[in-house]
Amino acid sequence: MSRVSEIMQTMEYGPSTEDASAARDWLARRGTFGHFINGSFTKPGETFETRDPATGDLLARVTQGTEADVTAAVKAARRAQRGWAALTGTERARYLYAIARHVQKRERFLSVLETLDNGKPIREARDIDVPLVARHFYHHAGWAELRDTQFPGHAPLGVCGQIIPWNFPLLMLAWKIAPALAAGNTVVLKPAEYTPLTALAFAEICQEVGLPAGVVNIVTGDGATGAALVAAEVDKIAFTGSTEVGRGIATALAGTGRKLTLELGGKSPFVVMEDADLDAAVEGVVDSIWFNQGQVCCAGSRILVAESVAERFEGLLSARMARLRVGAPLDKSTDIGAIVDPVQKDRILSICRAATDAGAELIGGQAQDGCFIAPGYLRNIAPANPGMEQEIFGPIATLSTFRTADEAVELANNTRYGLAGSVWSESATVATDMAARIKAGVIWINGANMFDAAAPFGGYRESGYGREGGAAGMRDYLAAPTVKPVREVAPKPVVAVTDGAAPQPGIDRTAKLYYGGAQKRPDGGAMYAVPGGLAPLGSRKDIRNAVEAATKAGKWAAAGGHARAQVLYYIAENLSARVSEFAARTSRAEVDAAIARAFHYAAWADKFDGATVQAKPGHLVTVIPEPMGVIGIACPNAQPLAGFLSLVLPAIAMGNAVVAIPAQDDPLAVTDLYQVFDTSDLPAGVVNIVTGVCADLAVPLAAHEEVAGFWHAGPAAGLAAVDRAAAGNLKPVWAVPARDWTGGQAQGEAFLHHATRSKTIWLPYGA
Ligand code: NAI
Repeated sequence: MSRVSEIMQTMEYGPSTEDASAARDWLARRGTFGHFINGSFTKPGETFETRDPATGDLLARVTQGTEADVTAAVKAARRAQRGWAALTGTERARYLYAIARHVQKRERFLSVLETLDNGKPIREARDIDVPLVARHFYHHAGWAELRDTQFPGHAPLGVCGQIIPWNFPLLMLAWKIAPALAAGNTVVLKPAEYTPLTALAFAEICQEVGLPAGVVNIVTGDGATGAALVAAEVDKIAFTGSTEVGRGIATALAGTGRKLTLELGGKSPFVVMEDADLDAAVEGVVDSIWFNQGQVCCAGSRILVAESVAERFEGLLSARMARLRVGAPLDKSTDIGAIVDPVQKDRILSICRAATDAGAELIGGQAQDGCFIAPGYLRNIAPANPGMEQEIFGPIATLSTFRTADEAVELANNTRYGLAGSVWSESATVATDMAARIKAGVIWINGANMFDAAAPFGGYRESGYGREGGAAGMRDYLAAPTVKPVREVAPKPVVAVTDGAAPQPGIDRTAKLYYGGAQKRPDGGAMYAVPGGLAPLGSRKDIRNAVEAATKAGKWAAAGGHARAQVLYYIAENLSARVSEFAARTSRAEVDAAIARAFHYAAWADKFDGATVQAKPGHLVTVIPEPMGVIGIACPNAQPLAGFLSLVLPAIAMGNAVVAIPAQDDPLAVTDLYQVFDTSDLPAGVVNIVTGVCADLAVPLAAHEEVAGFWHAGPAAGLAAVDRAAAGNLKPVWAVPARDWTGGQAQGEAFLHHATRSKTIWLPYGA
């Protein structure tokens, strides 16, 4: 044993182990777990083990959920849903509040159980995970209370299937269950197979607070159980996990019309500018990539540091890294605990090996006995190195340098993901400029990995879609007010006619496609007969050209709402000058609706604002609706003019560029719009139009890498193919319900929500 004077010399810590007896007693008492269905625990079925990754010790056996288990749980949730939704907001709020209180009362027990099952340091479970769980239920008790006034006309979705990962087991449960219940849904949740225990403890809390049976159901199991839940009769799937599985789920749900939100992987940049407070930035790295052993979807796993300060930064970083304590998760002074499972440890090490084989140098990052890996980082790493491209999901960052801010932005965005980013600079101008230019759903300025129930969280691109937290998160658990359905007009078969066919009598010009601000002949030169003449029969190649033109319209997004409003007013003015001409093509009602849309979205263009939310004292947390980028739109086959403009105008009002496929049967009213656009100061590439067979054009458009979102208002039969095409690169598809496009339900905020996604920016403020 060391003498006190020696300890004072070495400053070594002694272990300070959290008492785990309550959690262990609970496990011993419970032994083997069944599922939690309809308010009680089922008899265990076929089971699997869950182990403490720090010691390898068996903690408990839990039941592998079968299809029948999932069906029973979904049935229970369905039975409970009507009653749950019929409660008043205050009544639902009381349950959520009671859950929050019970979580707080059991804070110690839940933290220890989480640490045992997951391997995370008790300090993190106790100080971050569990308090945030309670915060989530409190916050959403408030949303339950306020749902009807804040989301008028909205209804719960019904039964939500929720699949969560193992990195923040209880916190992810709270992120999923709290908003779902607040909105009036019931849930079937499947925890990850590595970490089912706190979800089962949570089930007991549901019993303690007297939550009506069936409102929360928990079915344990592995990916097969998850897949059964995806295939079950649920109204929504909310998934957090790997991009690969997310893609599979999006494909499996194609054409079902079920709601889906995906929170997937990341490879988030951690940008240290030349003028950053380097000591603070180094602490930021600790919170960013060495938090939870780097098993964090939004971990700042790519450190990008200004070349001029890189050497000094690296010196500070390696000194700090050397002082991090890797060890027993229950020890209160442990910084880095156990990796969740040997499988994950091997996965991390194999990516590191591939990275070093490809020429990178690994500093630290040694594998240790058991499920432990020392913190580390890869340097001298080329952009195409596997360590740079893949999500390592372990305590290993990459470190590269840049010379200019532009280069930093380019590197930061050089990823297929877009979940989060962290920017370090003492200059507000520099930091906020970077925040604006990094394509990600969450940006922390001079901070990292901060979360709160009021601050929406979610990604861009392959990091998924949908938001969790705040009003945006609530909206993803609610159905927008229903629209009065109308019968769909099925498209007529298309017969191609060769180019040069004699124009029909009375037609004095040949309709063309429109992209990049110019009229273009279709690639193959083919046309097809439509009322009033011939329309170009667009092809895949035309879609590619149109998307390319749309990607060049980036300045439109930066132009600002006021400038965009003026263009929309100008479109209205030019349309109103040609009312009779357009009315002859369509109807007076359609033209009036078209002009009304232009006025409506001109009004919104500079008013669809974000919010500053109360997330954390000392921070200004701003939620900004950003344009998606390029939106693909398949227009309805009926009411060609009103349908087209009711969809295109909200999208462009928010700063997007669009590639639209007009009504297949009757596109000439839209091809007549080109002159209106040309004379309304609409910049080239903002609206691009390809006429032809909707089903043939929509699929390549939905699959295109540069298209960020797709609105399908075309023939419903084409939806499944569009969904599948979009699932490939994880873009959200909005299946726009058919409606009367001349009526009042053809415009409103719902269109603007679909035209944007929120970016949450955390700034230090008054700290
Ligand atoms: P995973 O995506 O397989 O697991 C997440 C959840 O999905 C678990 O509950 C799992 O049982 C379930 N699941 C698996 N296959 C399914 C299917 N076909 N249908 C429905 N549900 C299914 O992630 P895994 O294999 O545990 O980790 C692999 C990698 O994924 C990690 O190394 C990391 O890169 C990434 N990951 C990212 C997470 C994030 O928060 N973004 C969380 C977990 C993993």
